[in-house]
Amino acid sequence: MAEVGKDINKAKQLLEKGQLVAIPTETVYGLAANALDIQAVLKIFQAKNRPRFDPLIIHVPSLEKAELYATNIPEKAKDLAHAFWPGPLTLLLERKGLVPDLVTAGLPTVGMRCPDHTLTRQLLGAIDFPLAAPSANPFGYISPTTPLHVQDQLGDKIPYILDGGPCTIGIESTIVGFDNGMGIVFRTGGLKIEDIENVIGKVQLQINSSSNPKTPGQLQSHYAPRKKLIAGNLEELIKKFQSRTVGILSFQTSYNLPYQYILSPEGDLAEAGRNFFSALRMLDQLPIDIILAEYVPDTGLGKAINDRLKRASYGG
Ligand code: TXA
Ligand code: MG
Repeated sequence: MAEVGKDINKAKQLLEKGQLVAIPTETVYGLAANALDIQAVLKIFQAKNRPRFDPLIIHVPSLEKAELYATNIPEKAKDLAHAFWPGPLTLLLERKGLVPDLVTAGLPTVGMRCPDHTLTRQLLGAIDFPLAAPSANPFGYISPTTPLHVQDQLGDKIPYILDGGPCTIGIESTIVGFDNGMGIVFRTGGLKIEDIENVIGKVQLQINSSSNPKTPGQLQSHYAPRKKLIAGNLEELIKKFQSRTVGILSFQTSYNLPYQYILSPEGDLAEAGRNFFSALRMLDQLPIDIILAEYVPDTGLGKAINDRLKRASYGG
């Protein structure tokens, strides 16, 4: 079992020794290591059972620090960093040579993010290296939004979980890259596309649902529970599976079934985002045969939730 606590000094010392520490962010918990220490970064891939071709995001406390690891940063990237860092935004930037190949999976870009969480910001301020950190879940499984989620799945593989409480956004960061001055969204996430477009104008969406050489980690089957999940029209699905014991994941509506989770009775997408991964985990542990889910309204944060739901569902 991992120790769980709020001791930044302890986290710092472990990271300096090349150990892994789970860290809180506003999006999801990260599994962190010194990004410049190849042996430490290797431990991330081992603990998560993550394929080496899937690059890691590195976490820094500010744009100034990001400039130590990235070069030729486009003006639009700087504008976004000024507007939204610290916050749920990852920028794909041209890497500098000191970023290990293992971190970027050999790509010419590095994903950089400045997370918005007091404890993790204090930690980043106390160390003199950036933190490589993917979501702290086994590869392909649901992302963790509480220390207990991390403990349940990776507790025997890491010494320490920095306890920052439940994540306030609950959905991973939005990933934005740049091509010929154009902003490109590779993963929808906690920062709305509308907010991004307000700062840098129209962006392109390249959210491939299958393997994509530019974002290898955006595989079709991802964020998935162990139980079969089917997303669609809940009324029809409930009828179709009436002979089975089902668990229901709905946005707002109660379907009056014994195993159901309503993401936001008020119909608030931010609340739905905060609850989403916890709800999937809870349903995954119930004595049910199958999880039936419905999509949320496809606007704002809803796009990111629906993307996760689609990847979690059977058959993509
Ligand atoms: O909110 C988040 O972004 C969380 C917290 C912990 O910061 N992190 C996170 O990391 O979601 P991860 O590894 O679970 O997802 C990062 C995604 C992966 O799909 C990876 O393939 C993609 O970002 N990625 C990372 N670096 C990249 C790069 N240089 N080019 C393209 N895609 C990249
Ligand atoms: Mg992940």
